[in-house]
Amino acid sequence: MAAMNRAVPAPAHPAPLTALVDLSAIADNVRALRAAAPGRELMAVVKANGYGHGAIEAARAALQAGADWLGVAHLREALDLREAGIKEPILFWLYGPQEDLTPAVRHGIDIGVSSLHGFEQVCEAAANAGRRARIHMKIDTGLGRNGATAEQWVGLLDAVNEADMRGLIEPVGVFSHLACADEPGHESIALQKQNFLTAIDVAKTRSVNFSRRHLANTPGVFAKEDLAFDLIRPGLGIYGLSPFADRNAEELGLRPALRLVSLVAQVKRVPAGQGVSYGLGYRTSVESTLALVPAGYGDGIPRAASDRAEVSIRGKRYRIAGRVAMDQFVVDVGDDKVRLGDEVVILGANPGEPTVEDWARATDTINYEVVTRLSARVARSYLPVA
Ligand SMILES: Cc1ncc(COP(=O)(O)O)c(C=O)c1O
Repeated sequence: MAAMNRAVPAPAHPAPLTALVDLSAIADNVRALRAAAPGRELMAVVKANGYGHGAIEAARAALQAGADWLGVAHLREALDLREAGIKEPILFWLYGPQEDLTPAVRHGIDIGVSSLHGFEQVCEAAANAGRRARIHMKIDTGLGRNGATAEQWVGLLDAVNEADMRGLIEPVGVFSHLACADEPGHESIALQKQNFLTAIDVAKTRSVNFSRRHLANTPGVFAKEDLAFDLIRPGLGIYGLSPFADRNAEELGLRPALRLVSLVAQVKRVPAGQGVSYGLGYRTSVESTLALVPAGYGDGIPRAASDRAEVSIRGKRYRIAGRVAMDQFVVDVGDDKVRLGDEVVILGANPGEPTVEDWARATDTINYEVVTRLSARVARSYLPVA
């Protein structure tokens, strides 16, 4: 038994599947994004576990590189950051109609306000906590998702004024989200900017002023129009990924922070005609070697990658053979000398390695989803900020 163990090379990352996150890349990307919007503040968006990279670690790296704010969708995500000892300003913007927002006010977490109903929840939370809630009002300038419509805006501003007088809230920011900033020159971009400016003017006429106006997500930072206002709000870019179809990360001065690696867990020689994985949809055409990779849809590897996406072993690309299962998939390496314990690069950025974008193309999705879906079961290993 001991002799057999010695035959397996000692891996740097012994877990079946590991996301290696280079926090220096996140720090460098924050600096690059900041340089693209000089003199503005930066809110690093670390929702959904930091787009799969680990929210707390990504947040700390971003703050170390000069991020001023953190942005998340949910209160729970914001509280996790506070509980990790992060004291910098945090904004969250999505909550349910029954959610108690008192912990946000108690922990000095800024709250996005998109509707009158949400605003009432905020006022109730402020009354419970006995202090003003810091709010950022969200206007829907064209995305058609959350945010107040132009028709609702005036009523909301009046409610804000009243609550301000009652000592319940402190208006801090006004923000909106772009629909098509990943399509440079799209007519909606200028229109949304104009609608945003109009909403700010309307607020001024009702004596509601904001010190932080923010509109730009990652593609907005790189838009032809100046969309940076007082604060930019990038997510994808801080992880070193490009939101554009025709410009890669390197062209934007960014570099991917995440590598997803596994180790070959079993190697076996099989005859021609061997069916592989559920449904037996893949069959070896000749006698061949199958390598088992312990990564599946339980880890966030899309089942849609079955027979489509590629991995790299010993510098060579192999397509997934058959269906991705919950915990594992198989590659057919032919007669190549692949060994137990060989590193399998699932997502990489070195020349020849499969990229997040390769996986997005193979599975009909976007790079955002490929990294964000990596589940809690994937071990995360961090290279500290240099
Ligand atoms: C309100 C808001 N701001 C900023 C972002 C960050 O966007 P991106 O990852 O494109 O930079 C998001 C993410 O979807 C968002 O919902």
